[in-house]
Amino acid sequence: MDRRTFLSWVGVGTLASSLPVAIVACTSSETSNSEASPSLEKSDTTASAPAKTNPEGFVEVGKLSELKDTGFVKQKDFEGAPLLVILDPKDQTKAVAFKNKCTHNGCAVDWKAKEGVLVCPCHGSKYKPDGTVANGPATGSLPTYTAKIEGEAVLVKAS
Ligand code: FES
Repeated sequence: MDRRTFLSWVGVGTLASSLPVAIVACTSSETSNSEASPSLEKSDTTASAPAKTNPEGFVEVGKLSELKDTGFVKQKDFEGAPLLVILDPKDQTKAVAFKNKCTHNGCAVDWKAKEGVLVCPCHGSKYKPDGTVANGPATGSLPTYTAKIEGEAVLVKAS
């Protein structure tokens, strides 16, 4: 075996032996990245719970006590997108639900109850509690869902 052939075999062997380590490293970083998502830290405990859909098409996404305690309920996936539900600042007996993707570039927005606005952490867009734009760069409203509160259940209608 000449030197060139030997070195190419060593290179293939090194690559093959490091592949499992690389796969494990990638898997671990994906897990830690998803755990570190700041926008979905609180109140998304229902995200993995099985959805209960009532005959009218409403899905229970959280509890009223949670909505009152934190000011919002989030789910990682509601019909293929993140969901944000807040108490209507004009009528605390009602809920307002949004597709939680900023219309500028898709970041999840946060509800700032004291300011009464939804704020995008990426580029600073602000939305009014009805989802319309208060400040850009976003130009389109956050899509909304029909939402209601029944007893302790926070319900959002699937389309
Ligand atoms: Fe929200 Fe840019 S993604 S302001």
